[in-house]
Amino acid sequence: VGRPHHTLLRPPPWRSCPGLCSRPAAQRPRVSAPRRRTGLGRAPSTPLLPSAACKLLSEEIRDIRRADLGETRQEDSSENSDSHLQLPAASRSPPAQLQRDEDKTPVDTHNTSAKDVPFQAGDLILAEFRRKTYMEFKHMRNLTAVGKLNSNWGAISHLEIIGKLPGQMFRTSSGFQFLIRRPALEDYVLLMKRGPTISYPKDINAMLMMMDINQGDTVVETGTGSGGMSLFLSRAVGPRGRVISYEIRKDHHAVAKKNYRRWRDAWGIGHAEEWPDNVDFINKDILTAAEDMKSITFDAVALDMLNPQITLPVVYPNLKQGGVCAVYLANRITF
Ligand SMILES: C[S@@+](CC[C@H](N)C(=O)[O-])C[C@H]1O[C@@H](n2cnc3c(N)ncnc32)[C@H](O)[C@@H]1O
Repeated sequence: VGRPHHTLLRPPPWRSCPGLCSRPAAQRPRVSAPRRRTGLGRAPSTPLLPSAACKLLSEEIRDIRRADLGETRQEDSSENSDSHLQLPAASRSPPAQLQRDEDKTPVDTHNTSAKDVPFQAGDLILAEFRRKTYMEFKHMRNLTAVGKLNSNWGAISHLEIIGKLPGQMFRTSSGFQFLIRRPALEDYVLLMKRGPTISYPKDINAMLMMMDINQGDTVVETGTGSGGMSLFLSRAVGPRGRVISYEIRKDHHAVAKKNYRRWRDAWGIGHAEEWPDNVDFINKDILTAAEDMKSITFDAVALDMLNPQITLPVVYPNLKQGGVCAVYLANRITF
């Protein structure tokens, strides 16, 4: 996260140093033709580590490395009836696909993520400026065709950002380098508009684990507050699941719904799938909700409110056997 784009495009370390950085054999790409970097003109099975460097390896590592390379050769020869050393010159060239993969950074067209999708108007961006380890500036906003990101370190027009891939450095009008990326859910929850104090993402994640929430689960939450926990619950239960979130205060209920909508809308821009619309925000005192709950059972209950114990007689009867009720208190999480 947050690394400049060019760093992300560097080939993985095991490419240049198989003996030191090789992945387990099962994970290594299987190739049916001899491995060859046409651009560098290497012979098919020439070790990529320089021989001087090889001498620095311990005997044990060299044994592992030899065995590793031997295993690859065996696999290759089992897939070709002829040994690759005996293949005619024409057959020794790797297939077009392999050449491309070896020479360029692989592009997996089946696994396009938001990181491959350029910024568009409406997208949420997170701009960060660090000096050494200190974060001087961190700002989240939606991109618009006419907007400008202003800061004490200069401005960047939104038009300069639109059309570029996330995770790059952008130069401000004063010459400072800002990293601009799409915010993770954690960033969003920490920076979104707040009504009451949110449950903190690191604590929410601990609660999700305690409750053992899975895709398809039904979870009751009280109170909704600013909707921070609701967003994490929404992701955890997924499109087949459901979150029922009660909030006694109208203003908090409205803030939470707005925060949820803003995240969903921005998500839809950078992702192929929509964020699930799986949270029922209910503006009601949980203590008066016993009747509503009679028709449903839940897999878990998450409580973040004052005096959470008063809620138990309402939620407990419909909590599935083995279901967990996690309670977020000011100084600890308990369940
Ligand atoms: C600390 S906030 C919850 C923050 C939320 N977990 C988040 O991440 O944004 C507590 C909320 O509980 C609400 N609340 C308190 N008593 C309630 C009740 N009996 N029924 C429903 N909501 C209640 C409050 O109005 C307040 O908005």
